[in-house]
Amino acid sequence: MDNFTKPKVLVGKKADLMSRLADEVEMGIRMRAAENRGFVLGLATGSTPIPLYQELVRRHREEGLSFQNVITFNLDEYEGLAPDHPKSYHAYMEKHLFGQVDVRLERTFLPPGNYEDENRAAQYYEAKIREFGGIDLQILGIGRDGHIGFNEPGSGRETRTRRVALAEVTREDAASGFGGIENVPTHAMTMGVATILEARRIILIATGEGKREVVQEAINGMVNSAVPATFLQDHSNTAWYLDAAAAG
Ligand code: F6R
Repeated sequence: MDNFTKPKVLVGKKADLMSRLADEVEMGIRMRAAENRGFVLGLATGSTPIPLYQELVRRHREEGLSFQNVITFNLDEYEGLAPDHPKSYHAYMEKHLFGQVDVRLERTFLPPGNYEDENRAAQYYEAKIREFGGIDLQILGIGRDGHIGFNEPGSGRETRTRRVALAEVTREDAASGFGGIENVPTHAMTMGVATILEARRIILIATGEGKREVVQEAINGMVNSAVPATFLQDHSNTAWYLDAAAAG
């Protein structure tokens, strides 16, 4: 199964992909737990990883998978949303994962939605990732415009955690959840491309026909900042998990 040619692409049914992904997460957690060490997991929000979180919660409840040794870092957060705002990614994580497993909440990190000094807030986040030894496994989704995290087109390979403006298409995609595009924040704080590429392993999940074109471009297109996901081509340990609709 690990005999992939580069780039490593796994195409399968959504449920199978999620279970395979949950296997990787579980293996990482258990291997580190056996050594009495923490497992550092990078997390994405959005609709794509929800079935993964459901599967992890199920394994916690039914199979005793413990998250006690897990440290999490999320990719991004909308600007201006308090952690308890229902559309914040803080609230999303609480709802879909953190509130349902035994993870130590003081070791779950997300970029802040509110900050006085954006540079200090960004540097603090980067420092926290370093403090825990870097990210072992980063889960990613992909935006229709090729963003990873909220690294919108134009984001270079060297970018680190920072405040960014959201692309119009990203705000359009979020509009229904916010009850109209006018309610979608215009900015966010996101891990940078360089921050993401430092993860020891990356798995990007894409499902549904709406992602087909951008996935094609990200995997086969020229590496450049117009489609930030193309930078993953330069990461030696990235896998693409695609359902048939996204793989085309
Ligand atoms: C979310 C994130 C984004 C999403 C992407 C896909 O934390 O960083 O890059 O992964 O926008 O979103 P969905 O899964 O909703 O299509």
